[in-house]
Amino acid sequence: MAKYQVLAVVGGIAKESLNKKFYGAMKELAPKDFELATFDISTLPFFTQDMENDPPEIVQDFKELVKACDAVVFITPEYNRSFPGVLKNALDWPSRPYGQNLWKGKAAAVTGASTGSIGTFGAQHHLRQCLAYLDVDVMGQPELYFNASKAFDENGQIKNDAKKLVTQYWEAFEKHLEHLHIAENKKGNPKVPFQEHRAH
Ligand SMILES: Cc1cc2nc3c(=O)[nH]c(=O)nc-3n(C[C@H](O)[C@H](O)[C@H](O)COP(=O)(O)O)c2cc1C
Repeated sequence: MAKYQVLAVVGGIAKESLNKKFYGAMKELAPKDFELATFDISTLPFFTQDMENDPPEIVQDFKELVKACDAVVFITPEYNRSFPGVLKNALDWPSRPYGQNLWKGKAAAVTGASTGSIGTFGAQHHLRQCLAYLDVDVMGQPELYFNASKAFDENGQIKNDAKKLVTQYWEAFEKHLEHLHIAENKKGNPKVPFQEHRAH
């Protein structure tokens, strides 16, 4: 088992999402101690308290993955100076029922891709606000506002400058995890398959 199983929660759900593409690059460049998997959050139904005590199977699968992972990376687009509703929905399910917040104590990092140089600033900072309430240990620095319009060459390969930013970001996150002694206190559940979940 990898030292760190990192769940990537990607807020872009469009087929050609820049944030999905960014996740692909992040996965390729992740440190060797990291195993990354994402979960397609577009498959989650809208949260309702009517179902929080007995959620549908797909929600249970997502909650199991949240429980099993050692850390989380949130990769968010910016929608109207905040993060998309589909990502808020994915935050809400594991936060309930009251008193059973599965995000509590998780180590996390926040980033996001757009077509501008500080695009996703608003999204990332709103997200940090929710994560603070949910008692998540979010890495403070470096912030990474990934400019996807400049980051890839004509063959879709990540360019060196962008690669360096992502690598530095991962190195900082690994230090953050070391600082929190995540590996020593590993609670991962080997029974939960840690693999990509995609609807299509
Ligand atoms: C509803 C909506 C609101 C948006 N609001 C912002 C915004 O506030 N700031 C910004 O930089 N880009 C904004 N955009 C542009 C998105 O950053 C861009 O569409 C991006 O590619 C979305 O991420 P994705 O490709 O991963 O889906 C918005 C796009 C949509 C569809």
